[in-house]
Amino acid sequence: MQVAQRYRHALIDGLDRPLAHAASLPNPFYTEPSVLRHELDVLADRQWRLLAAEGQIPHPGDVMPVTMSGMPLVLVRGRDAKVRCFHNVCKHRGVPLVNATARGATSLKCQYHSWRYALDGSLDRASHFNGINDHRLCHVDASCLNLDEVRCETWHGLVCVNPGGHAAPIADAMASLDARWREYDFPQLRFGGTLSYRVAGNWKLVVENFLDSYHNPFVHPVLNKASLWDEHYPIVEASYFGVGTHVYDAALAGHGGLPIFRGLTPQRAQGAEYLCVSPTLMLGLHADYLFVLSVDPVDAQTTDENVYFFFVEHDEPSDDTIAIRNTVLANWDRINREDLPIIEGMQLCRRSPAFGSAAFSPFHEGPLHAFQRSLAALMADQATPAQAARDAQATQLADSVEA
Ligand code: FES
Ligand SMILES: [Fe+2]
Repeated sequence: MQVAQRYRHALIDGLDRPLAHAASLPNPFYTEPSVLRHELDVLADRQWRLLAAEGQIPHPGDVMPVTMSGMPLVLVRGRDAKVRCFHNVCKHRGVPLVNATARGATSLKCQYHSWRYALDGSLDRASHFNGINDHRLCHVDASCLNLDEVRCETWHGLVCVNPGGHAAPIADAMASLDARWREYDFPQLRFGGTLSYRVAGNWKLVVENFLDSYHNPFVHPVLNKASLWDEHYPIVEASYFGVGTHVYDAALAGHGGLPIFRGLTPQRAQGAEYLCVSPTLMLGLHADYLFVLSVDPVDAQTTDENVYFFFVEHDEPSDDTIAIRNTVLANWDRINREDLPIIEGMQLCRRSPAFGSAAFSPFHEGPLHAFQRSLAALMADQATPAQAARDAQATQLADSVEA
């Protein structure tokens, strides 16, 4: 059965029921490569995927190679200060064009045969192609040799891509979240570092664990003191879901004293919210900092988890402020590492006949149910262009074998 159809069945058989009677996605959705292939096609076609913080490439000429589920890409800030994304593939023999982050580049030069591209991706020189010091491209259509650009937009300092091109503009996709968080003046934030993990678990388990605050008292005792369990509230809206807390005590969390957003109401100044805003993108917003967590599926049972931190900054940060920021990163590193064995244990049990689909706690797991339900609806929709092309190829092959 096609994966889209299996997702339709998962909706009908379990996820579309009211929360108290709903049943979660069954095990094969977490283990099968064909499921992941379908998910990646749909995500690439219709969703924004986070690749970097703008603060990682702040100046014209800054370039950074990245991968998205193994696909080599490169981010380039042009002379016009615009961030562009290209497939990081030299058009001559197909090797990665950029291998390391660099500052102040004026062009992109391939290490193999020295072809040179402008920062806008156009081929500048096919070095010595037609003879020593003869760079002409005789008999070759030069217009096919520019780098392939990937649709790329930014939102509050996040660089996101939508290779398939069918996602709504990112400002529209995030409009309802912007409305929810209108009190927070995002331009007050500055990029302040990253954390990264390779997790032996399906990407959906990482997202589901993020949405699950049910486990906090048992797995994260220190976090649970700063963000009390009984102060939490679920958030389930059409385009985002997660958990909020009325009280997030930065001092109890071990990193009090950072500047906070100007203009917050007392309620917002005390609380925090953790929301999944697209299937692979999660945000944790506090009065003094934002973290952004993105998941990058590697294979069906392996995920790269990347966390980006942004701190409220009114003045040049002092050494003390930088030390407190480092504590924020250290605290979240500890929390993330507390989660890793749990996520990896869940993955192990997705291969056991003793676990299948499960019920949701109506009190705690509404956001988790909302994630699975919205994901299943997205994945159950009709085929993407990439899938249609694969299906057409398979039919052609079958026809030619029969003939
Ligand atoms: S592969 Fe890049 S110049 Fe030959
Ligand atoms: Fe956790």
